[in-house]
Amino acid sequence: MRLLRTLVVAGAVSIGMTGGAGAQTVKVGFITSYTGQNATVGVLMDKALDLYLKEHGKDLPAGVKVEVLRRDDTGPNPEVAKRLATELVTRDHVDVLTGVIWTPNAMAIGQVADQGKTPFLIMNAGTSSITTVSPYVARVSFTLWQSSLPLGQWAAKNNLKRVYVLTSDYGPGNDARDAFTKGFTDGGGTVVEAVKMPISTQDFAPYMQKVKDTKPDAVFVFVPAGIQATGVIKAYSSLGLPQAGIKLIGPGDITPDEELPNMGDFAIGTITMFHYSAAGDRPANKAFVAAWKRAYGADTNPNFNAVQVWDGMQAIFDAIRAQKGKMAGDKTMEVWKGWKFDSPRGPIMIDPDTRDIVQDEYLRRLDKVNGKLANVELEVFAHAVKDPWKVLNNKR
Ligand code: PHB
Repeated sequence: MRLLRTLVVAGAVSIGMTGGAGAQTVKVGFITSYTGQNATVGVLMDKALDLYLKEHGKDLPAGVKVEVLRRDDTGPNPEVAKRLATELVTRDHVDVLTGVIWTPNAMAIGQVADQGKTPFLIMNAGTSSITTVSPYVARVSFTLWQSSLPLGQWAAKNNLKRVYVLTSDYGPGNDARDAFTKGFTDGGGTVVEAVKMPISTQDFAPYMQKVKDTKPDAVFVFVPAGIQATGVIKAYSSLGLPQAGIKLIGPGDITPDEELPNMGDFAIGTITMFHYSAAGDRPANKAFVAAWKRAYGADTNPNFNAVQVWDGMQAIFDAIRAQKGKMAGDKTMEVWKGWKFDSPRGPIMIDPDTRDIVQDEYLRRLDKVNGKLANVELEVFAHAVKDPWKVLNNKR
């Protein structure tokens, strides 16, 4: 079993036309966490990749094949990520590096991409500064500043006066804290305390007890999604914070769609700001969710990581089509600058100046729909949001 999984992960899958003489093979190095922290997320990203190849493999130019080389970074381990990326670039000669849940890994891979002049399209990692590491880095996912700054503005306007901030102790947690604090305090709110939690903790009870004792109006939380999100919700509810009138708010990383069935009804009413909900009623999302259910079962849903892989594969396929499979790093980056797509999450673009994603942010409320928890989109809170950290600090 273990051997089989290793083979599947390390193996390459080719898709597209088999061309005979003159056939062009485009190599894509896909790095995610198949084991370790957030392996549940890595598996969903892998499924989204498979679904995209199944649905769109036929859309490649005649004679062009795509070969995906899948690699397991085993969690937030930058040394492993760096080694894998280096092998993919120097030994396998991939045309594109992609995937990547974790910021520390993305930082390391960005340096490899820079040295090899190999385009790196980030499909998750959300710390704002990652894209500044190299002109060969672009992002199709999100930044924490995109969600948490508008959430801070919303909180200040909606009668929350005192908020407690709990964030994982690394890049995206710090960004979420700083962005929320700016939006909230600029609007007149007060952050009563900001506490950092270890990146891999599963025991949120001591933190939530402290929140309860402090009696804020709300607690703002960032954890890197996955099963930790359920741990947060369980501690919040089992310690009686809902009954104490303390609201739970955060970026959508705390209510990922695949974890909702594990969360229980105490989470109802949680307010999040984010770019994707499986419950979104846009036509492109209806089609995406239907394709997912056909492939993986009527009871399953894609999540935000899955849509980011879906969209990222579209950007990679567009770069392949533009070059008819004869890939050059600089040309691929040119295709991605200003790239637009009608994504299941809504209209998206890669900013030509910063190579970072531009997208809508939805205000959502966790609620029951047809007996199941869903992130119900209440409104598009902010349209076509560029990474606010880059805008505010004049970064590229
Ligand atoms: C990150 O490490 O950048 C990261 C991981 C998981 C998330 C968000 C950000 O949900």
